[in-house]
Amino acid sequence: MDLQSFSQQLDELRARALDAVATADDPAELDSVESAYLGRNGELRKLLGNIGQLPGPDRPKVGALANPIREELEATIATRRARLDEIALDVRLAREKVDVTLPGRALPRGSLHPLIETQREIARIFGQFGFVTYDSPQVETEALNFEALNIPADHPARDLWDTLYVAGSDRHLLLRTHTSPGQIRVMRSTSPPIRALSPGRCFRYEAVDASHGFEFFQVEGLMVDEGTTLADLRGLLDEFAHGMFGPDTATRFRPGYYPFTEPSVAFDIGCLICGGSGCPACKRTGWLTILGAGMVHPVVLRNGGIDPERYQGFAFGMGTDRIAMLRHGIGDIRSFLDDDMRFLGSF
Ligand code: DAH
Repeated sequence: MDLQSFSQQLDELRARALDAVATADDPAELDSVESAYLGRNGELRKLLGNIGQLPGPDRPKVGALANPIREELEATIATRRARLDEIALDVRLAREKVDVTLPGRALPRGSLHPLIETQREIARIFGQFGFVTYDSPQVETEALNFEALNIPADHPARDLWDTLYVAGSDRHLLLRTHTSPGQIRVMRSTSPPIRALSPGRCFRYEAVDASHGFEFFQVEGLMVDEGTTLADLRGLLDEFAHGMFGPDTATRFRPGYYPFTEPSVAFDIGCLICGGSGCPACKRTGWLTILGAGMVHPVVLRNGGIDPERYQGFAFGMGTDRIAMLRHGIGDIRSFLDDDMRFLGSF
């Protein structure tokens, strides 16, 4: 081999390499072209390995021939690599393009559950008179749900409440049958003057129908202060009825019975359906009962740690479901807990 044919072989290698670089169209392919020609076991190395076959004086000239070609190939590969990166980026940008002019997908708007909304409206109205909301547990002790409220174990009033006891608690724990134990908790955790609401879920072992649920909501109210009277209760409940059902709503007190109040009353509003003339909704009486109330029994005050000689109080308890049904003209209490979006979405 002489220098001329060596030079020809170099040129020929250069041409093939340039061609391969130009046609490599992804980075991995370009890497393998690079190592095939310029790598440790690449063609250029191999060719240079033949240097020993050249006549002695020609050997030093090999570098001057080969180095520019190596540099040219390295530069061409670098340029090609940059170009391929650019192309890859363009492809990605095109694929991941976000069209910010597209209208967004509308999110369905949620709304408060009608019972929660009603509960809040009740709290808002009483809030205007200084009533503050307290949380009270749904799993309650028998002592607070009954005994502390003047309903001893053998008292016939217990028959009013069909109770769900917690298994394994030896009848010590139950699902509260009303929010009234909240009264005791409030009295024990604070001192008069007290203006408290205690809303939430209650449970009874009920036969379910359009107006009875085994799970329902109540809002309890309690006021304790010096010189609190039944007239204060009457005035407050009138304000509530007018705030909730409109200023022309008729109201009345009827005698009632609860073990934890003395005297006890039922509070009625004029029937919203017939306006008082009598219809099936009010059982032809013209009146709808919306809550029970009364002056807190001295025994209950004492159980709450309050001196009944000094303080008096009134309490009331209303069915949130009932109020919501009257407000929205809902005919069946079961709708509230059915989780039917067609029903819930209409509020
Ligand atoms: N706890 C009673 C019930 O569930 C409602 C009630 C009546 C609450 C009179 C009161 C009250 O605070 O004074 O039927």
